[in-house]
Amino acid sequence: MSKKIASARISTESSELLKELNNSLPFDRELYREDIRGSRAHARMLAQQGIISAEDFTTIDEGLQRVLEEIESGAFTLDGEDEDIHMAVERRLTELVGDAGKRLHTARSRNDQVAVDFRLYVLEHDRQIAKLLEALIAALIDVAKAHSETLLPGMTHLQHAQPINLGYHMMAYASMFRRDHERFISSRERNNLSPLGCAALAGTPHPVDRRSTAEALGFREPTLNCLDAVSDRDFALEILFNIATMMMHISRLSEELILWSSSEFGFVRLSDKHATGSSIMPQKKNPDIPELLRGKTGRTYGNLMSLLTVMKGLPLAYNKDTQEDKEGVFDSVRTAELSLRVLKEMIEEMRIHIDAMEAACNKGHLTATDLADWLVREKGLPFRDAYHLVGHAVNRAEELGKDLSELSAEELAEVDPRLGEASSLLDNRLSMNARNSEGGTATERTREQIAQMEAWLRELGN
Ligand code: ARG
Repeated sequence: MSKKIASARISTESSELLKELNNSLPFDRELYREDIRGSRAHARMLAQQGIISAEDFTTIDEGLQRVLEEIESGAFTLDGEDEDIHMAVERRLTELVGDAGKRLHTARSRNDQVAVDFRLYVLEHDRQIAKLLEALIAALIDVAKAHSETLLPGMTHLQHAQPINLGYHMMAYASMFRRDHERFISSRERNNLSPLGCAALAGTPHPVDRRSTAEALGFREPTLNCLDAVSDRDFALEILFNIATMMMHISRLSEELILWSSSEFGFVRLSDKHATGSSIMPQKKNPDIPELLRGKTGRTYGNLMSLLTVMKGLPLAYNKDTQEDKEGVFDSVRTAELSLRVLKEMIEEMRIHIDAMEAACNKGHLTATDLADWLVREKGLPFRDAYHLVGHAVNRAEELGKDLSELSAEELAEVDPRLGEASSLLDNRLSMNARNSEGGTATERTREQIAQMEAWLRELGN
């Protein structure tokens, strides 16, 4: 009975190879909670609608609770011959409660069942990932608050460009993670619809109440069209895309931490908890954790591409190809949640070398744009002329082996008499604070950004 619960037409025992290819229990057992939740809501609705008796409902409901307990205690191990989690739970239920268990699958198909279970899983993790993002953003804000006056060479092309502050740099990442957060929340909103009661593809002749199961399971309402609902995996694609994009952000930050912790930069020291040694070079401390975060980003891109590819040629409605939707999502979700936790801890525990960051600002003539802007403002030069004049000053500084900000008034005046008065202006901190336009790096503006981000976090209940 156990092996053939789902086939009325197939008489021979399935081949071992078929089972290996076909069975999804080894991975979809991850969905046992959602499966049991969905089944309990379905059974309650069947009884409410008079499709099964009240006694059968009670028997089924108690039986499903027992199955859940047995799975959680390990008494029922999900490593048997069952085809998938849906068959495993139904089989165990029927073993426990007998005939009533056989009525559970009335007005339902595994097609809507799996769509419900998987959606519940994805929506829950949309929420959990959003929560973890909030915690990460809070950690970035803490660094930003402590370092809105710490000078850092702002770069373009990985070349020194203009002085900024470290807090401003952290707030750039906080902004990316906030967009990620918004994506998870809006995906959750959009997909918060129940496929339950769609049955195989066309609905059911039984008088089901899809609104009551939708409500019981926390969905906003039932999906509009059943043909779509049993074949739609957009909710899964969205979480995969959202995770891939978020991991891209995590990877960029990791890359910077790897660079910053090198001896060339020396801007930060990762906690010993987040670094490892080399098996041969005794002096080494390697930034394995940000390297792994950067590396794991790759598999999340792969998971997105593989599900897009699985879906692209499928005729309506359910096709078994769709069973390939789960492993990549489970993998991406695990990777995302772990990465967020680790990154937060790493940010909280890294040591910041303020002196090294500020000293680095004295390389690369970071104040050159300030000098050009000053010539425009104070001397009425057209920007392009000012630009060329500052170019000469930079050349002079290079000849003298100095940074532009280190040239004396006399040295500047030698390049052009108009430049002499500007020497006191060529200061990295002044330069940073001069960029005071909305969204700019000035400490005051950075603090504004921090306050705005904190207000957003508070609104979310943090
Ligand atoms: N294990 C299947 C899956 O994950 C469940 C749905 C099976 N439905 C079917 N008609 N074979 O997609």
